Amino acid sequence: MKHYPKNVVRRARTLLALAVACMLPAAALYAQDRSASEPIKPLPPKPALDAKKVELGRLLFNDARFSDDGSVSCASCHKVEAGGADAGRKLSVGVRKQSGTINSPSVLTAAYNFRQFWDGRADTLENQIPHVLSNPREFGSTWPAVVARLSADPKLVGAVKEVYGTTALSQRNLSDAIATYERSLPEPSRFDQYLRGDSQAITEDERQGYVKFKSYGCIACHQGVNVGGNMYQRLGVLGDYFNDRGGPLTTDDMGRFNVTRRESDRHVFKVPSLRNVALTPPYFHDGSATTLEQAVQAMFKYQLGRSAPPQDAAQIVQFLRALTAQSIEKNQRGATTAATAQASQKP
Ligand code: HEC
Ligand code: HEC
Repeated sequence: MKHYPKNVVRRARTLLALAVACMLPAAALYAQDRSASEPIKPLPPKPALDAKKVELGRLLFNDARFSDDGSVSCASCHKVEAGGADAGRKLSVGVRKQSGTINSPSVLTAAYNFRQFWDGRADTLENQIPHVLSNPREFGSTWPAVVARLSADPKLVGAVKEVYGTTALSQRNLSDAIATYERSLPEPSRFDQYLRGDSQAITEDERQGYVKFKSYGCIACHQGVNVGGNMYQRLGVLGDYFNDRGGPLTTDDMGRFNVTRRESDRHVFKVPSLRNVALTPPYFHDGSATTLEQAVQAMFKYQLGRSAPPQDAAQIVQFLRALTAQSIEKNQRGATTAATAQASQKP
């Protein structure tokens, strides 16, 4: 056995004791953090983004000059303060008041989807934009037309110069600004606080709902940072959704088949994110489910091939409501309190 001088042994012991002492508070702090072991992950911290670029993107997102007749902006179909979709519409309304053909998803956490659109035909936020631009029922426009309209606005050209160092507006810098704005949108929910270790952040019913969301198997498809948005799955794995819905089958009903032309991709869709889902009725690509309760019942029937006791379904709905961004939940509470205060003031 090797012998160390006493002072070396003593120093090593002190160092060890120090190391253990340093680890203790850290262990206490992280003991409750569930993010490593849970199939749903908390939103990562806000990315560091150029604030001026985000602001330029916000202006463009709200700019109706993108549409051919100046009547709609991105925000017309994606109301950011109200959940990022189009506030209760089954199908959105585009240029010249035309009805669209598919339900508008939320943009609030689109940045965390592995692909964009119900059928995943765009790979990035930047590449999603040309699809809306040229869609005759959405903007019905072209890049040269949009660039010409916006270039006539000296204030906007000034803002572009400040961010991109050029007065030349282009598909590239306009899309970059809009996508950067979209990347600034994700906001954490109470459920994120729960995952990060705050057990008090959600109610007991919401927690039970989460346990059931996992045990019934919803989690097999809705998982990860976005509680969805990371895989494709068929709508109607264990039941004929489209037959029961009735009505003609539309091109949009074909889902991913439209992209790949593979028979196995018929009725396959990107599993949607369930973050902020309580804010965006109606549900499904066709807007066929009016309420969250109906959407959950349909999922039990067509994706899991079973039904569930009403109490379990109700708790799952409560869990889904806990996925709403806290920033929006606070406004909603504020609005409710204001309405109550107003009502109680009435004689
Ligand atoms: C006329 C309504 C309308 C307008 C205007 C509009 N969108 Fe959309 N948006 C939709 C609809 C409907 C979909 C779903 C289309 C699909 O999946 O086929 C969609 C999908 C998206 C998605 C994909 C989200 C996901 O979860 O897959 C993003 C991101 C998005 N829009 C951003 C934008 C941006 C940015 C603009 C402006 C440049 C814009 N939208 C303008 C209606 C609209
Ligand atoms: C086999 C995969 C799978 C399973 C399991 C599953 N889902 Fe889904 N879910 C999907 C797909 C795919 C869609 C999109 C369907 C469409 O509109 O075309 C969806 C849509 C939804 C929507 C509507 C979202 C929106 O924005 O329109 C909700 C809510 C939902 N699921 C909740 C649940 C719940 C709760 C469970 C468990 C009871 C569950 N899902 C189980 C794949 C699945």
